[in-house]
Amino acid sequence: MTSQVTSQVTREETNQEETNQEETNQEKGSSDVSDLVRSERRGATLLLTLNRPKALNALDRATLLALRSAVDAVADDDAVLALVLTGEGRAFAAGADIAEMRKLSPLEAKAFSRLGHETFSALEGLRIPTIAAVNGFALGGGCELALACDWIYASEKARFGQPEVALGLIPGFGGTSRLLRRVGIAWAKEMVLGGENIDAETAQRIALVNRVFEPDALLDAALAAAERLAAKGPVAVALAKKVLHEGQDTDVRAAHALEQNAFGLVFASEDRGEGMDAFLTKRDPKFSGR
Ligand code: CAA
Repeated sequence: MTSQVTSQVTREETNQEETNQEETNQEKGSSDVSDLVRSERRGATLLLTLNRPKALNALDRATLLALRSAVDAVADDDAVLALVLTGEGRAFAAGADIAEMRKLSPLEAKAFSRLGHETFSALEGLRIPTIAAVNGFALGGGCELALACDWIYASEKARFGQPEVALGLIPGFGGTSRLLRRVGIAWAKEMVLGGENIDAETAQRIALVNRVFEPDALLDAALAAAERLAAKGPVAVALAKKVLHEGQDTDVRAAHALEQNAFGLVFASEDRGEGMDAFLTKRDPKFSGR
């Protein structure tokens, strides 16, 4: 997995970058690259926390690799039925790491963008439902990371934006595509071309954010929602997610066909018998995920 991701750069470059990164982490008060994304089980939910608070969880290469590896581990773990992603400190993530990006050649910048895309697509493509719990700044790559999650819950203090044009850049981790699909062309253009941040209330009004909470209530609300999602039929949730994703990028007739096929397929699961029997016998279902 890691080898797939690192295949974009030579091993020598990777080693050098990792050495540099470790030095940067030490400067920033984090001792180990694997600490960059903390992973904790909370019931059937996995809580991932970006953990580079002194740099406002800016996404450098090492953090993206740590995130990718955490996402790949979730994909292989059948016991995890939902995921919550948040940030340590006062930011969710303040974007791609500007200090690291400043040194990139055009080809290295393309590889960096590809790494972000592959990481976020792996997150988006998980079978389980995912919730971004946006505790503070979600700017640039941080906003794009939240957009790769199924739901976005936000603190009243959260700020969203695609400020790349202020740096002479454009979004590089999916901001032009996922933002457009979530909020439509008018607000995507306002955010990407204007580069101004928006508050949580505005983000909810334009449907970038699902729900807004008081700062202290955010994480508990996201974890509780994740546990409720985890109690639903896992095969059904996975198929519904897949049909929604694939259906939004196809014409409506093909989307209808996708839904019909998936509806038939879900009848091959044990869970659909359990779910309907539970309803008919007035008890709670016990889904097996098969
Ligand atoms: N990259 C690297 N370091 C960052 C960072 C980033 N994106 N965002 C914040 N930091 C660092 C700051 O350099 C600072 O470090 P030092 O303490 O070592 O100086 C630390 O985090 C705290 O930041 P500030 O002192 O700036 O905190 P603030 O409260 O005054 O401002 C902020 C907060 C408004 C979020 C401001 O930090 C900011 O504007 N950050 C940059 C946001 C941005 O432009 N993001 C887009 C990046 S480009 C991108 O993401 C491209 C892509 O799609 C791939």
